[in-house]
Amino acid sequence: MVQKSSYPVYENMQYRRCGKSGLKLPVLSLGLWHNFGRDDDYAKSRKIILKAFDLGITHFDLANNYGPPPGEAEITFGKILRKDLAGFRDELVISTKAGYYMWPGPYGEWGSRKYLIASLDQSLKRLGIDYVDIFYHHRPDPDTPLEETMTALDFAVRQGKALYAGISNYNADQTRLAAKILRELGTPCLIHQPRYNIFDRWIEERLLGALKDEGIGCIAFSPLAQGILTDRYLHGVPRDSRAARDFSFLKPRDITEEKLAQVRQLNNIAQRRGQKLAQMGIAWILRHENMTSVVLGASQVSQLEENVDTLKNMAFSHEELAEIEAILAG
Ligand SMILES: NC(=O)c1ccc[n+]([C@@H]2O[C@H](COP(=O)([O-])OP(=O)(O)OC[C@H]3O[C@@H](n4cnc5c(N)ncnc54)[C@H](OP(=O)(O)O)[C@@H]3O)[C@@H](O)[C@H]2O)c1
Repeated sequence: MVQKSSYPVYENMQYRRCGKSGLKLPVLSLGLWHNFGRDDDYAKSRKIILKAFDLGITHFDLANNYGPPPGEAEITFGKILRKDLAGFRDELVISTKAGYYMWPGPYGEWGSRKYLIASLDQSLKRLGIDYVDIFYHHRPDPDTPLEETMTALDFAVRQGKALYAGISNYNADQTRLAAKILRELGTPCLIHQPRYNIFDRWIEERLLGALKDEGIGCIAFSPLAQGILTDRYLHGVPRDSRAARDFSFLKPRDITEEKLAQVRQLNNIAQRRGQKLAQMGIAWILRHENMTSVVLGASQVSQLEENVDTLKNMAFSHEELAEIEAILAG
C-alpha cells in the first residue's frame, strides 16, 4: 500500500504565476506521456503520481493520446484520482490536449471543432472528472482555420469543461494570432507548451518574446531531452531506459557520440555546482523569469525526488552560463 502523506509539502515547492493570469503552477510539473500506459506497472505509476503530489507538484500534464494505447494514461490517472486523491481535486491542476491522431476517419485528429469537442468529452470520461483545468490544442493544424480551432477552445471553457485554454508546438507568429483570436473571444490564452532544453533552443529566437508580449505563460516539455541530459546514458543504454523501450520516440541512434561528449562536459559543470546533470538542466530552463514551469517525465520515484532537489540550487554565474554556451558551440 502506497502511503500518501495527508497533505502535500507546499512550502518545499515554488509556484510561479502563469503569464498574466491568476493561476500559479509549480515550477516542476509531472507529465504522463511515458510510463503510465497499459503495459506499465500500475503500482509504480501510482507511486510516482502520489509522490509528486506529496512533493508539492500540483500540476499533472496529460493528452488524449498518451499511453500506450492512446487514452490509457488518462485512465490510469483517473483511477488514481478516484482511489487515492478523492477530496483533493481543488488542489490539483489537470491538463489534457487534443491534436494528434486518436481515432479513424476524418474527425480523429488535427484542429477541427468536431474533433476537439469530441476528444475533450472522451478525455473527461477516461479521467472520470467534470472538467480539466487546462485544455490545449496539441499542434497547429495547417488546414483548419485558426479561428475555428480557437473558437472550439473558447467553447470548451464556456461549457465549463475546461477552466483555461492553451496551445502547444505553435511557432511565434501562430501564437500571436491565436492569442489575438482568443482574447477577442474573451478566453485569454493561458499557456504555451513548447519543447525546450539545453539541446533544443528554438523558442529563444522569437517565441519567448511573443509569449512575454502576450502575457502567456510557458511550460517546457522534454526538459531533459527525454533523458539524454542526465547521467542515464553515460555508460551505454540501460535496459530499463526509455531508449531501450519499443514504444518510444527516443532511439539508441539518437544518443550519438557527439551528444555524449557534450553531455560529459555538461556533467562536469553540474558536478562542480554540486548538482546532478538533470538538476542543472532543469535549473537552466527555469533561469528565464517568464518560464512558468517545466514538465518532467519520470520512470522512478527517485528521479522525481532528485529533480525536486533542483530547487536547492537554481542560480547560475555568468561564467557557468558562458561555459555551457561554449560546450554547445562545440
Ligand atoms: N506538447 C507536446 O507536444 C509534448 C511532447 C512531448 C512531451 N510532452 C510532455 O512533457 C512531459 C515530459 O516529457 P519527457 O518525458 O520527454 O521529459 P524529460 O524530462 O525530458 O525526460 C524524462 C525521462 O528522463 C529520464 N529522467 C528524468 N529524471 C531523471 C534523473 N533525475 N536522472 C536520470 N534520468 C532521469 C527518465 O528516463 P527513463 O524513462 O529512461 O528512466 C524520464 O522518463 C511528457 O510526459 C508530456 O507531458 C509534451
